[in-house]
Amino acid sequence: MHPTRRPLTRRHLLGATAAAGVTGLATGCDPDRPAGGTAVSDDAPALDPASWDSVRAQFALDRSRAHLATFVFAPHPAPVRAAVATHRAGLDRDASGYLAANEERLDRAVLAAAAGHLGARSDHIALTDSTTMGLGLLYGAIRLRPGDEVLTTEHDFYATHESLRLRAERDGVTVRRARLYRDAATAGADEMVAGLTAALTPRTRVVALTWVHSSTGVKLPVRRLAEAVRERSPEALLCLDAVHGFGADASTPEQLGCDVLVSGCHKWLLGPRGTGLVWAAERAWARMTPVIPSFDGRDIGRWLAGGTGGQPVPPGPAHTPGGYHSFEHRWALADAFAFHRRIGPARVAERTRELAGRLKEGLAGIRGVRLVTPRAADLSAGVVCCEVPGVPVGEAVNRLWSAGVVASSTPYRPSYLRFGATIANGEQDVEAALRAVRTLA
Ligand SMILES: Cc1ncc(COP(=O)(O)O)c(C=O)c1O
Repeated sequence: MHPTRRPLTRRHLLGATAAAGVTGLATGCDPDRPAGGTAVSDDAPALDPASWDSVRAQFALDRSRAHLATFVFAPHPAPVRAAVATHRAGLDRDASGYLAANEERLDRAVLAAAAGHLGARSDHIALTDSTTMGLGLLYGAIRLRPGDEVLTTEHDFYATHESLRLRAERDGVTVRRARLYRDAATAGADEMVAGLTAALTPRTRVVALTWVHSSTGVKLPVRRLAEAVRERSPEALLCLDAVHGFGADASTPEQLGCDVLVSGCHKWLLGPRGTGLVWAAERAWARMTPVIPSFDGRDIGRWLAGGTGGQPVPPGPAHTPGGYHSFEHRWALADAFAFHRRIGPARVAERTRELAGRLKEGLAGIRGVRLVTPRAADLSAGVVCCEVPGVPVGEAVNRLWSAGVVASSTPYRPSYLRFGATIANGEQDVEAALRAVRTLA
């Protein structure tokens, strides 16, 4: 690119001197090696992506326990640990120099990896720190007029409901909730489509859904719901909290048919803790105004020029919150996507289904346990919920912990006992969980 056409970056604006200093330290010949950094290695065995035991060995989990809650907050696999350590060492040695020398290239690598995973354009992706941050930004950014309606459901997580409540408090938009199913265990796609369709109106401008419900493990038939939205409320944007599908189901936004996809990368993707993203289609970005100032060099350049002129900033960077971040984690996200790609998203999805299937079959076969999550693979992903009547959920989680099994409880009413096996797990973890649950019932 011609030097005068290059977008201004924080490097140019804030770190020119440091950059010059660090360039002298750069390794120069290896484009993957961070300038001014020393690669930090990890003692995990080399990955054989064809072997699930080898994949599992990439995680430094305490093996005295069966960890069936790694999807709540991810352990880092070896390549992510190594990347975080490398970037951290570089930043600790000279934070502004390392940033100036590497930021542009590493940011680009993260976005390219995310775009590859999503099958989307990299400049349509904004980087965040979590799903919650993405949902707060999204539902703050969409422009709405008086009389416009937002439709969500009874099944969504706190972060969606609360973002919309805060939005309604700020400018009085109407937020309604639909119920898509009565009983998760017997929920059907037709029932869910009918439930949503009945609640759509010509005034609906936003439909806020969650791909896989963390309350029950139900996976929505998103494609069919998107078609219903297009037909009945063509002006509505279908926005998805995708966090329990992202990295567990290989469907892309295009295949899902959604307009906006929000996810954290520190759950099923097993990416760096404190990372997330928002992808939106062109027509959705066109209806949003950024909430937090970006640190994109073009935005800063326009500000320096008195607020006029400059190049337009594509929506992804324009909606990426500015400020300094825990960059060692953000940049290691490229390594998390690469790890996932080496194993193969379709294989990961299949493995997740297989382990969840074992959990569901096993739980359903234990007398005194009621499986809440649908058995059908097209209506569930990796989240598996159940209840043990007569045993309060908190007590069940504690007793399982004492038996060496890490489970979670759903933060909803009613609250259920919840498990999820990621690629950091194996059949032995599932069997240990089933053995421990048998002692509860
Ligand atoms: C459906 C759903 N969305 C969002 C979140 C929050 O994710 P994050 O930690 O990435 O904000 C959770 C649980 O943590 C969840 O279950």
